[in-house]
Amino acid sequence: MDLTTTYLGLRLPHPIVVGASPLCDDLDTVRRLEDAGAAAIVMHSLFEEQIARDWRRTASDLESHVDAFAEATSLLPEPREFRLGPDEYLEQIRRLRAAIAMPVIGSLNGVTASGWLDYARSIQEAGASALELNTYYVASDPGEDGASVERRTLDIVRAVKRAVTIPIAVKLSPFFSAFAHFAAELEAAGADGLVLFNRFYQPDIDVVELEARPEHHLSERSELLLRLRWLAILSGQQRRLDLAATGGVYEALDVVKAVMAGAHAVQMVSAVLRHGPGHVRVVRDDLARLADELGYHAMTEMRGCMNLARCPDASAFERANYVRVLQSWRDE
Ligand SMILES: Cc1cc2nc3c(=O)[nH]c(=O)nc-3n(C[C@H](O)[C@H](O)[C@H](O)COP(=O)(O)O)c2cc1C
Repeated sequence: MDLTTTYLGLRLPHPIVVGASPLCDDLDTVRRLEDAGAAAIVMHSLFEEQIARDWRRTASDLESHVDAFAEATSLLPEPREFRLGPDEYLEQIRRLRAAIAMPVIGSLNGVTASGWLDYARSIQEAGASALELNTYYVASDPGEDGASVERRTLDIVRAVKRAVTIPIAVKLSPFFSAFAHFAAELEAAGADGLVLFNRFYQPDIDVVELEARPEHHLSERSELLLRLRWLAILSGQQRRLDLAATGGVYEALDVVKAVMAGAHAVQMVSAVLRHGPGHVRVVRDDLARLADELGYHAMTEMRGCMNLARCPDASAFERANYVRVLQSWRDE
């Protein structure tokens, strides 16, 4: 069984990538992930606000950038609460490059197309093979429309594309009203891939202390279903975008489903945090067995076999299924 795949210009031995998370912080852990056969690793994000804070601390001549971030940074954790400052982040990429052979993908996380994006070039120079742009944003201003939110992300992609030569993927939330159109615009702006989807952390309420509880939970396998839908829709549209699934990938069966829907790669974080680095090998070996059992000889043969390419109107198809499912419900 040939598990090889290509993703963001990288030829990978199989589709299983370790997603953005603290797993990249410790060299021993990264070595264990490589020993377990991980195809690549994504660094955790370097945040726009973190860079702005760093500038504010150290460079008075960058005041113009700083003003734009003043409000946002005042709400953020202190620098010591970030795992790695901007310089250490670049140093960690260099350290990983020197210590391991698998590709390292950088990650920038922010929402404005401004000076902080210079770090994209620094990340490339430090040795990253590709770059993820995570544009996590909760659009809560009633004066801001969806087009403005999309335009800002497109501006970020264009700015980064001008600054680097490595491939870039955009990691998005599913909360866009016309996701397929936005994906096409991202491709036109220069994105090489999409990572589906960002998980929004969802604060709970402590009703006694009257406090919001911003807790971050590991994912559940059921979260993969939303990814499968959009992989199937987007990959059916024959774009040249490489697609990666992130969210709910735990087992080989999940990888097979994501690849059938059209993924070039899958990312695992929660599963590795739960089960340890060795879990990558378990999933990879199971994937080879399962694909074989299902009668496939290569990942490329499997990729997209369940996408919606042959469906003339995916929206009507989705709506028809929705109606059918609601009608078929029986009290059990
Ligand atoms: C502890 C932790 C830290 C994370 N840090 C980042 C990050 O810095 N940047 C980012 O884009 N995603 C980050 N993520 C999100 C993951 O990359 C991934 O998209 C998400 O956990 C869903 O995948 P999973 O179901 O395999 O966990 C983090 C997730 C966890 C659990």
